[in-house]
Amino acid sequence: MAGVIISGTGSFLPDQVVNNRDFELMVDTTDEWITTRTGIKERRICPRGMASSDMGTQACLNACKDAGISPADIDFIVCATVTPDMFFPSTACLIQKKLGIKNIPVFDMSAACSGFIYALEVAKNLMLGAGYRTGLAVASESMSRLTDYTDRSICVLLGDGSGAAVLRQSMEEGLLGTYLSADGSYDDMLNAPAGGSRNPASFDTVEKRMHFMKMEGAALFKVAILSMSEAINKLLDRFNLKKEDISLVIPHQANLRIINGVAKNLNMPAEKFYINIEKYGNMSAACIPIALDESSKKGLLKKGELVMTVAFGGGLTWGANLIRWTKSEK
Ligand code: ACO
Repeated sequence: MAGVIISGTGSFLPDQVVNNRDFELMVDTTDEWITTRTGIKERRICPRGMASSDMGTQACLNACKDAGISPADIDFIVCATVTPDMFFPSTACLIQKKLGIKNIPVFDMSAACSGFIYALEVAKNLMLGAGYRTGLAVASESMSRLTDYTDRSICVLLGDGSGAAVLRQSMEEGLLGTYLSADGSYDDMLNAPAGGSRNPASFDTVEKRMHFMKMEGAALFKVAILSMSEAINKLLDRFNLKKEDISLVIPHQANLRIINGVAKNLNMPAEKFYINIEKYGNMSAACIPIALDESSKKGLLKKGELVMTVAFGGGLTWGANLIRWTKSEK
């Protein structure tokens, strides 16, 4: 077998829509501020009782259906999330149980918003290195659970959702290459300080709202543009490609101004960047597979064309995948 292809995509978004006007009632903000500073108009929030594995299971089922396979055909699951249902078992194990599959390897990966980009590369290497024939890469995020709804600088940005891709060994090459990087010295720029082994849950950590996400927004903004531009350039160079060779860029959806900044920095047309931030906000690792699924279903990805995904996130982590789209339009 020559390579690994994406043979199906699927996503799941909770029904509940929270729009910018709803935030005007919660914090000192306006629809106008959120729209002009971020591009976000609304986001989805999962209801009480629904967790990342529930959304992830639905996304995986939709991806299997799209690929024309049954969950029983899956040889492994890798799940990217920073909002697992619990510390352990892994969200991948919970998804496995809900899919009714037994005796395959499944595990979670943590690379924040870059998680799906890391997951695709790990999945590809499991397939080509260890011989698994069919795998699921899924990203599922319940960002609302990490959100401090009294902090206007963060709460308007985040949403919940899940996306998945079925990967198969093939004579064709679909996942052509990946660039991955990280710099842990930026750990303070974006994190959720409590609930882990450094600051275990206590009355004090809850009182200080330390279980919620903290972020240095303005500093991140600049790093995001630079790191995503770097990732795209590295992959273009490695494959000796020109920007014009890429048909569609699927960027992490953190801020419309960040995406436009990357396009400007690289001198690429903004229209080449897929945008859905207005509907969903930032769903961390789930942004990319959901956008991939939407672009596929809208017929924006043509067989044989090159697609680039690109993301940055907490860690900091960043990276990009170069994909040749091998699926025919239905
Ligand atoms: N409504 C109204 N005003 C607000 C809001 C709000 N929701 N949030 C912040 N402001 C105010 C600030 O308090 C500040 O007021 P001041 O000038 O009186 O101090 C003013 O708006 C400007 O604040 P900035 O932070 O400079 O605004 P900026 O234009 O940088 O936009 C934003 C802020 C949207 C957070 C931007 O910096 C950003 O998108 N940063 C990157 C975020 C990101 O990518 N996060 C990583 C991903 S999250 C993850 O990994 C899960």
